[in-house]
Amino acid sequence: MTVVLGIETSCDETGVGLVRDGVLLGDALSSSMAEHVRFGGVVPEIAARAHVSALVPCVREALASARLTLDDVGAVAVTSGPGLSTALHVGVGAAKAYAQALGVPMYAVHHLAGHAAADTLAHGELPSRSVVLIVSGGHTSLLLVRDLVRDPVVHLSDTMDDAAGEAFDKVARLLGLPYPGGPAIDRAAREGDPTAVAFPRPLTGRNDPPLGFSFSGLKTAVARHVEAAAAAGRELSVPDVAASFQEAVADTLTLKAIRACREHDVSTLVIVGGVAANSRVRALAEQRCAEAGIELRVPPIRLCTDNGAMIAAVGDLLVRAGARPSDARLSVQPSVELTWAQLDPTADPDDAEPSVA
Ligand code: KG4
Ligand code: ZN
Repeated sequence: MTVVLGIETSCDETGVGLVRDGVLLGDALSSSMAEHVRFGGVVPEIAARAHVSALVPCVREALASARLTLDDVGAVAVTSGPGLSTALHVGVGAAKAYAQALGVPMYAVHHLAGHAAADTLAHGELPSRSVVLIVSGGHTSLLLVRDLVRDPVVHLSDTMDDAAGEAFDKVARLLGLPYPGGPAIDRAAREGDPTAVAFPRPLTGRNDPPLGFSFSGLKTAVARHVEAAAAAGRELSVPDVAASFQEAVADTLTLKAIRACREHDVSTLVIVGGVAANSRVRALAEQRCAEAGIELRVPPIRLCTDNGAMIAAVGDLLVRAGARPSDARLSVQPSVELTWAQLDPTADPDDAEPSVA
């Protein structure tokens, strides 16, 4: 059985993971988050430079935690998109170097397929059909997933504007909370009343697309509320606004995710990505899935946010499916859509994608 080394550098986390046969053997993570805080968002050049210094130490740390050496690595998987171009280049360059030096195949992986695969490390193989709600800083999508590495992923809906995590980050800024906004709002909301402000539930009207997402209007509603309080000289309760905003997001996400399961006759919902770490999203999803008789799978928090283990997990699935390696000349794809978990498989004149046997 092959040990897969996974490398993730699409944003501000340098992640390395080692997976064999569906089992996480060891991993390491280094974040440049602290260096971006004063800019209120990730600065691509700073992120890339941090990846350059953190990558090799992370590989060593992951190997040490798995009690393995580089000689045990049988394949390399790397995020080649989507993400920040400068940041992706560091991971892809490193993956090529490791694969070449070790004489092992390399698999280029879609970052969002990694988020979905993260759950397999905690809860085992995905069922033959599942609805996956991906909620991260850059994406909010409902996906119909069959075999993650053999079948194309079907997009049931993608956000029309801001991603859920982006809305958390922007609302946190409006409330004077630190970056990243999600964890800060989650913390502030614990002391607040989720019914204090009746924020809108976007696209939940009778004539709206049943599975559609849009978060920019909700963010504007919070901005108007903050402005109105300032104009009236009213003191703003940050915990109440945070809790009410978080409730609106959690309500909308879970409502639509369960609707997607029903519409497509799917009995398993998987919630992944940074916003899946949100305590209210997790609690409300649990409650509503139990009521609807739907099995809910949410990875532990450290596997929800960006990490290398999730990329190794996709690599491991590809290896076990007999996929052809990715083309060694591959480059980064900063805005590639998720259709296939593997990017740039080597060409086979006899058939089209995917490359699996
Ligand atoms: O998946 P991720 O780590 O990176 C991307 O691929 O985007 O997601 C990062 C996003 C950020 O917007 C962050 O604010 C949000 O996930 N996030 C949260 C929580 N933890 C992280 N949002 C809400 N509640 C949280 N506890
Ligand atoms: Zn991510």
